[in-house]
Amino acid sequence: MPYPYVLLSAAVSLDGYLDDTGPDRLLLSSPADFDRVDEVRASVDAILIGAGTIRADNPRLLVNSPERRAARVADGRPEYPLKVTVTATGDLDPAANFWHTGGEKLVYTTDEGAEPASGALGRTADVVSLGPDLDWRALLEHLHDVRGVRRLMVEGGGTVHTQLLQQGLADELQLVLAPLFVGAPAAPRLFGPGSYQGGRLRLTETRRIEDVVLMRYEPTAPGTGPAPAAADRHWLRTACELAALCPPSQTAFSVGAVVVAADGTELARGYSREGGDSVVHAEEAALAKIDPADPRLPGATVYSSLEPCTRRASRPAPCAELILRAGVRRVVTAWREPDTFVTAADGTGALLSAGVAAVVLPEYEALAKQPNAHLLP
Ligand SMILES: NC(=O)c1ccc[n+]([C@@H]2O[C@H](COP(=O)([O-])OP(=O)(O)OC[C@H]3O[C@@H](n4cnc5c(N)ncnc54)[C@H](OP(=O)(O)O)[C@@H]3O)[C@@H](O)[C@H]2O)c1
Ligand SMILES: [Zn+2]
Repeated sequence: MPYPYVLLSAAVSLDGYLDDTGPDRLLLSSPADFDRVDEVRASVDAILIGAGTIRADNPRLLVNSPERRAARVADGRPEYPLKVTVTATGDLDPAANFWHTGGEKLVYTTDEGAEPASGALGRTADVVSLGPDLDWRALLEHLHDVRGVRRLMVEGGGTVHTQLLQQGLADELQLVLAPLFVGAPAAPRLFGPGSYQGGRLRLTETRRIEDVVLMRYEPTAPGTGPAPAAADRHWLRTACELAALCPPSQTAFSVGAVVVAADGTELARGYSREGGDSVVHAEEAALAKIDPADPRLPGATVYSSLEPCTRRASRPAPCAELILRAGVRRVVTAWREPDTFVTAADGTGALLSAGVAAVVLPEYEALAKQPNAHLLP
């Protein structure tokens, strides 16, 4: 189930609009920022926009710099990123610039939209139906697995950005604030109403670019249930990186763990053999730092680089048990426990049978193994 890294990119007016109501596209960014966007485009495998933006703006979505295109080719990548759009109606104008410039084109649609889209476009683009509805997770999985996309830039419009953020699927938001007002209630807004899954976003950068400001954010809130959210990847990577702090051992794994509340607040972190306790496990060390009565625990997610243990000689309670006792209902791990120290550990199975959403993201297994290379065959 790996997805590409999803980077949302947008420019807004001070009053939060993406455009005005006039027939031409409102230029919100500054020239130097358009060049920055060109650089981001050159760094991705694919660029996605909604069909509404094709109809409203008729964009080309090119990498304009010949040097950046040459660098892509020198790296063995196509000169231009793949261009992707989504439509439910299939209402696509075959004369739009989108189809006649840049790299390969791909349309994701529904069973209903597939025929009109294919009819309009012929061989200009690949048309993929995702079934009766367009499911964004299915789209991201298809882009990753079938088209080899590892980095996806999403350039709007508002309905697309809103869905990806509300579903917790955006890894990063690059937002440019332009110093002007639109003031037209009928103009498109960047973000629509609804419930957002991102929690309080983490501000990772602010940069002045001529008269605009670039702000970069990452969502922090864990996913819910078995479906992974983009923020799960961030926290699991953090857990894997914590494992590097473990005092070395020949007889136990090096593991890192983080406990995160539903709103994205970090509650605690820990790692194996932390603080001079030669047998403490990562999840145990992290949970011990949280008041057992903390009301955020039942909604929290435990991230652990290795799945929680089910049997251990060093302490009476294995970590899977400690997690259940803490009332945590969701666990995300990178690596299933191998038979190195105990056979058939299956912490994931134990948690699942206790009704916990136990999610394994195997794309982080290699990172989780890194500090344990000396223990593995
Ligand atoms: N300032 C900026 O950074 C920026 C960037 C991009 C766009 N814009 C502005 O944004 C405006 C357009 O935004 P918008 O929100 O109207 O359009 P949009 O998000 O580009 O496209 C919306 C369309 O995409 C398709 N779509 C979206 N979600 C879908 C789903 N889950 N399943 C199937 N189809 C789906 C639908 O196409 P069908 O209707 O064909 O079914 C929908 O009408 C324009 O005014 C443009 O200038 C500004
Ligand atoms: Zn343990």
